[in-house]
Amino acid sequence: MKNNSHYRLYGRTKGRKNNKNNDSFLKLKLISVDHNKYNILDIGSGFGESSIKIAKRDKKKIVICCEKYIDGLNNLFKEAQKEQLDNIFIYKGNVHQMLDEYCSKNSLSEVWIFFPDPWPKKKHNKRRLIDKYFFNKIKTYLKYGAIINIASDSKSYISQILRTIYAVKEDFLWVNQSKSEWEYDSETLPETKYYKKALENGLKPLYVKLKKL
Ligand SMILES: C[S@@+](CC[C@H](N)C(=O)[O-])C[C@H]1O[C@@H](n2cnc3c(N)ncnc32)[C@H](O)[C@@H]1O
Repeated sequence: MKNNSHYRLYGRTKGRKNNKNNDSFLKLKLISVDHNKYNILDIGSGFGESSIKIAKRDKKKIVICCEKYIDGLNNLFKEAQKEQLDNIFIYKGNVHQMLDEYCSKNSLSEVWIFFPDPWPKKKHNKRRLIDKYFFNKIKTYLKYGAIINIASDSKSYISQILRTIYAVKEDFLWVNQSKSEWEYDSETLPETKYYKKALENGLKPLYVKLKKL
């Protein structure tokens, strides 16, 4: 399974100035996913703003952060400690591998994918996480009625996501189909690093909510 091409990761695993090899985040290492719990998977949790917000909202819910970026994971660990949250677990690596090795079928209640890497160059588009393969795979790990929350500021990625949602409409209902509901509401949704970057660049992030049928 280790040679699975979907396990390949692109982009940075640590910041340019990070030469400390600090892995304190490993104290929150994911051991397994208990399907009896309300499990929320935050894919590409970055610096952890989304995971912290979700974990604080309801401490009985489990938040699983899947990320390869070490500086982000350490920041998340620091914040989780500060907020005394013990409902956060970390998987360092690719979500495809995490699902195959740690997750049982019908065990996830929610999935968050906030500002997935847009890979804007056409030749890199195939590196994008969200495609038909991803939906077909994740659906088997979701509980009935589970929710997928997606946000992006990339017009071409959003178009691709919407085309893909149409292709998987037998399995997922697009819940927020009216224009006013797509708007990114920062009162309820997390103000992540990439959300703030989008605003700084004058971009309007879009929010998509799906329900597993
Ligand atoms: C653009 S950043 C967004 C981070 C954060 N969600 C935010 O909104 O600020 C995308 C993140 O997804 C992570 N990522 C990309 N592909 C991934 C994969 N297959 N599995 C897990 N994380 C992934 C990257 O390491 C990166 O930190």
